Amino acid sequence: MSRLSMRAILGDITLQDTDAIVNAANTSLLGGGGVDGAIHRAAGKGLLDECRKLGGCPAGEARITGAYNLRCRYVIHTPGPVYRGGSFGEEAILKSSYVNSMNLVMRHSLRSVSFPAISTGVYAYPKAEACDIAIETVAGFILENNYDVEVYFVLFDRESYGLYLDKLKSVV
Ligand code: APR
Repeated sequence: MSRLSMRAILGDITLQDTDAIVNAANTSLLGGGGVDGAIHRAAGKGLLDECRKLGGCPAGEARITGAYNLRCRYVIHTPGPVYRGGSFGEEAILKSSYVNSMNLVMRHSLRSVSFPAISTGVYAYPKAEACDIAIETVAGFILENNYDVEVYFVLFDRESYGLYLDKLKSVV
């Protein structure tokens, strides 16, 4: 039975040295603002050159690339849903972003991964709902697949950090 190793960190995901960090991307995979912009800036030009070859990624799916100048080994890019009120399948897409990211973690036998709060910035997903989806989906994946991995949720603001700390108390 795998034990759940999930932690919340308040900080910059580009500084994490986990095997992989997850990028809250857009479907073009050609960079943007927010965490996407920070990851591309820190990784350097090589990341964009590799992303260009991927031909984009539908929302809810995930793609893996090298990490270039970042401390981690891989970047997993997943476009989350744009929140439009909650009745356009946003929850299912957000869940699949976490599941498909974890599928790539497992397929590459990675033992540690850092997630940002996907879709809670520009894509306007309500933070508390997105936090519950993130933690429940990742915990469910680990238990269903009996896959031992260290998970770090790396938050960039105190509100999100507090939400994750509270939720993790009830799950881990
Ligand atoms: N480290 C960790 N988290 C960060 C960082 C960082 N360096 N920078 C921003 N964040 C946080 C934001 O505060 C937010 O909580 O990441 C979360 C996701 O916000 P966004 O980066 O805006 O991502 P998202 O809401 O998924 O929107 C994706 O924004 O940047 C563009 O190209 C991206 O079009 C895509 C859209």
